[in-house]
Amino acid sequence: MPRPLQEEDRAEPVIRRHVMSRRDEKRSRDLEELSASLAASITNTDGVLSRVVKLVSSFLGDTAAVRLLAEDGVTMRLVAAHDEDDTALSVIRNALDALPHDITRALPHSLPVREAKPVLLQGSELRDALGLMGGEHSAMVEDLGVHCLLFCPLRVHGHVIGTLDLWRRNGRGSYSQRDASFAQELADRAALAIENARLVERLRAEVEDRKHNEENLRLTAELLQRADEQRRALMENLVSAQEEERRRIAVDVHDDSIQAMAAIGLRLQILRRHAPNHEFAERISRIEDTVTESIGRLRSLLFRLESVSLEKVGLARTVERFAAELFPDNRPRFTVHSRLATEPAPHVQAVLYRIAQESLTNVQKHAKAAEVSVKLHEEDHGIVLSTQDDGVGFDHDDVVRRSLPGHMGLQSMQERASIAGGWLTVDSKPNLGTTVRCWVPV
Ligand SMILES: Nc1ncnc2c1ncn2[C@@H]1O[C@H](COP(=O)(O)OP(=O)(O)OP(=O)(O)O)[C@@H](O)[C@H]1O
Ligand SMILES: [Mg+2]
Repeated sequence: MPRPLQEEDRAEPVIRRHVMSRRDEKRSRDLEELSASLAASITNTDGVLSRVVKLVSSFLGDTAAVRLLAEDGVTMRLVAAHDEDDTALSVIRNALDALPHDITRALPHSLPVREAKPVLLQGSELRDALGLMGGEHSAMVEDLGVHCLLFCPLRVHGHVIGTLDLWRRNGRGSYSQRDASFAQELADRAALAIENARLVERLRAEVEDRKHNEENLRLTAELLQRADEQRRALMENLVSAQEEERRRIAVDVHDDSIQAMAAIGLRLQILRRHAPNHEFAERISRIEDTVTESIGRLRSLLFRLESVSLEKVGLARTVERFAAELFPDNRPRFTVHSRLATEPAPHVQAVLYRIAQESLTNVQKHAKAAEVSVKLHEEDHGIVLSTQDDGVGFDHDDVVRRSLPGHMGLQSMQERASIAGGWLTVDSKPNLGTTVRCWVPV
């Protein structure tokens, strides 16, 4: 079984000291060259690997290869190799690929990873190791004249990330202990460069990922904004179509129904004058009253349908006029208070006005209130409208649960607010009055 090289192996005979010092100089130049070359390709792991094997092969010969541990921490794979001789390179590549990749097995080529020290194989130890590759590969390696193999662990921050493998063929002597120390020094520098390059690549991938995510976010935000603009445009169209329809109905009621009823009234008047007797005249007079009453109702319907004064006098005054019409003798007492600095856009005016109309109509129909107040103010890029009465109140949840057919006021208010991109809440308890609050964006 091979053993990792120990410190005492590095002692040099005195007689070779002179040769050694020249060689030391060359080696420190080689080290500098390796460091400079690796620094130049710091951002590219493949670049670092190919420089390492090329330089190490030229410094120490003959073949240099790097195997790296995968993320599982168990499998080691060949990632780069270099030899001036292409045939030898291809044989050694295949041989390294044929070695068992699992480093948990106590085999010579996993020893440098487990012990974190260089391992030198020659003679019978080398033959045993080659035997692990299978007959065909070991025969080819032997044919090349490989006589010495050096595995150096790639150590960085106290752990091993792979090995730097060196193969020597006939024509050069075995790796000396000094060669091994030098190779280990190269391996340590290379390990640091490989780790840094991988770190830079990971960081770059993260930055790319983040950029990609930011781009996606930006696109989503753009889509959302476009959808919001479309929704707004749709809402404006919807509101103006509704208002247009109401105006048309109002004109029809005015020009057609009211005129027709007025004509009936006139004819009835003439008929009454020519009535043959008092009793008959009385009867006609009662029909006349009904007609006048109907005309009054139609006029009030007209008033509800119309919203022309929104343009002329603004939202608050139009709501006030509507309340004055709805509560003619100021019962309940009503107030309309606005803190709006400017008039909102026509579609916002229309939405708020229709909501105010329905909530005030509900007060008139259901609340038996003594007082009702309407307030308008700006909030959060929108307008808040609140209608508060002190009447009998009601159980809102119960009304929603039962969803009585034909009672659509509350629901239509909710729908108007949400179509406009806002919200509406109804706060009511039996005998505690009712507050309808809504917000619509401007
Ligand atoms: N301000 C209020 N005070 C007391 N009860 C109310 C008030 N507003 C609504 N309600 C109750 O809630 C119910 C539902 O109101 P909603 O406006 O949906 O229908 P409606 O007014 O009955 O009919 P419609 O509005 O369709 O003409 C009413 O029938 C009433 O019982
Ligand atoms: Mg109602």
